[in-house]
Amino acid sequence: MSISVSFQKEHKTQPSMIVVLAYEGDEGVSLQPVSGLEASLVSLAKRALEANVQFKGRLGDFISVVTPEGSVAARLGVLGLGKAEALSALRAEEAGGKFYAALSSLGVAGVSLYVGDKLPQPDLTLDMLAASLANGAVLRGYKFERYKAPPKEMLPELKTLEVVCTHPANAKKAYEKLSCVSQGVFQARDLVNMPPNDLYPDAYAKIIKDTLKPLGVEVEIFDEKKLQKMGAGAMLAVGQGSDRPARMVVMRWNGANKKSKDAPLAFVGKGVTFDTGGISLKPGANMDEMKMDMGGSAAVVGLFKALALRKARVDVVGVVGLVENMPSSKAYRPGDIIKAYNGKTIEVLNTDAEGRLVLADCLSYVQKTYAPRFVINLATLTGAIIVALGHEYCGTFVNDETLWKQMEKVSGSSGEKLWRMPLDEVWKKEVESEVADLRNIGKSGRDAGSCTAAGFLAHFIEEGTIWSHMDIAGTAWRTSDKPTVPKYGSGFGVRILDCLVRDYYES
Ligand code: BES
Ligand code: MN
Ligand code: ZN
Repeated sequence: MSISVSFQKEHKTQPSMIVVLAYEGDEGVSLQPVSGLEASLVSLAKRALEANVQFKGRLGDFISVVTPEGSVAARLGVLGLGKAEALSALRAEEAGGKFYAALSSLGVAGVSLYVGDKLPQPDLTLDMLAASLANGAVLRGYKFERYKAPPKEMLPELKTLEVVCTHPANAKKAYEKLSCVSQGVFQARDLVNMPPNDLYPDAYAKIIKDTLKPLGVEVEIFDEKKLQKMGAGAMLAVGQGSDRPARMVVMRWNGANKKSKDAPLAFVGKGVTFDTGGISLKPGANMDEMKMDMGGSAAVVGLFKALALRKARVDVVGVVGLVENMPSSKAYRPGDIIKAYNGKTIEVLNTDAEGRLVLADCLSYVQKTYAPRFVINLATLTGAIIVALGHEYCGTFVNDETLWKQMEKVSGSSGEKLWRMPLDEVWKKEVESEVADLRNIGKSGRDAGSCTAAGFLAHFIEEGTIWSHMDIAGTAWRTSDKPTVPKYGSGFGVRILDCLVRDYYES
């Protein structure tokens, strides 16, 4: 169930808990001043701080006490925001996320959160603080429960979050902007979490159309016949082993001023709805997780949802390659030589290195058709990036310094962390074949696996195209919670790319 968020000047509902904020300081914890709150509750909060010496007001720290009979709420809570001078919108979201987690272990259904009257620091407005706290709670409160009957006995879940603040209308406006992006994140998470028997290429293409078309996004679906005619032989080869035929989906959001002569921005996503490895079959352990191998495409779809919801003033094109990588008598084999959309031939040496083949055709198609200002692709491309960076950082390859600086900047403001990886001619050479133009794995075995994969993609980037490849194999799927990201499908990519578009490419 989703949380309903409202912004008020004073509490309206009968909340089960009233919450105030506190900062960590050199001289101990300090309460954020709140003028609208009854004096008895303010003094109760002070007593709670005196009694709970373990509470230091660090970001996301939380305590609660039961109030005396007759109080407006049964409980009073104090949420720590860390050091006031270090507080940012991003940190406030994190506090909101931890707050949600603390409430769910208590079973609180309705909360009034008092933001108070004092600016924590000059760069963060109280409206933004209010909006970010709420957005963080909502991001953490995401659940994927459409396949499961609700348990008979469960603690109440947080249903209403009432944020009490000085300028509710402004806070609401700020929140609604953030919420558009969160809706995009949820869209991406839902897609990643969906089981592969329900999310196969054709079904996925229909979901994209049904979700985005009503929001004003143009959606074009290419079936296998069309893909054959086009000559998209690389992605078709990957999909040919499956009874579920491949699809390419093109999305266009035309939000720029009509007079704008700027080329569109392009985002490309790997959408392998299930990756068995094909004839080069993967080991059985945890193979179920390969339902997340469409995480790159999910991020593109989620991004389009966010951009359309907030009516971004920019032209954007998205291309996703949707295939299922299965072993069968029709499957492509190691040894096959296939022909990509741009005419290059590829010797297949491992059918499990399929993502780069799917991307190859999508990348060539988007460059040829749209000559975009830049192309950013997202893909759960290599296990090697998880070995290198784990699940916290997304390995990012980029051929342009300006684009990298922008990405680095928005990485900091969105909380989706990037780590730059090297592009080098060496790895382009690594994937040259003796019998075809290219081979789909490097010559030196598993060495620098993420870099040879990027080297392969680089063969499909035209001279002069500004390009970045984000290997999200580690970040698209998590098995532990983060403050604003519950485990499993994370929706990684939506926030950072929305931020990139908003901060640098909108008119
Ligand atoms: N989808 C996988 C990469 C992956 C691994 C994503 C783990 C998420 C978690 C990709 O298609 C793959 O199988 N890559 C191979 C490449 C190898 C055959 C060169 C890999 O990483 O082992
Ligand atoms: Mn694979
Ligand atoms: Zn894969």
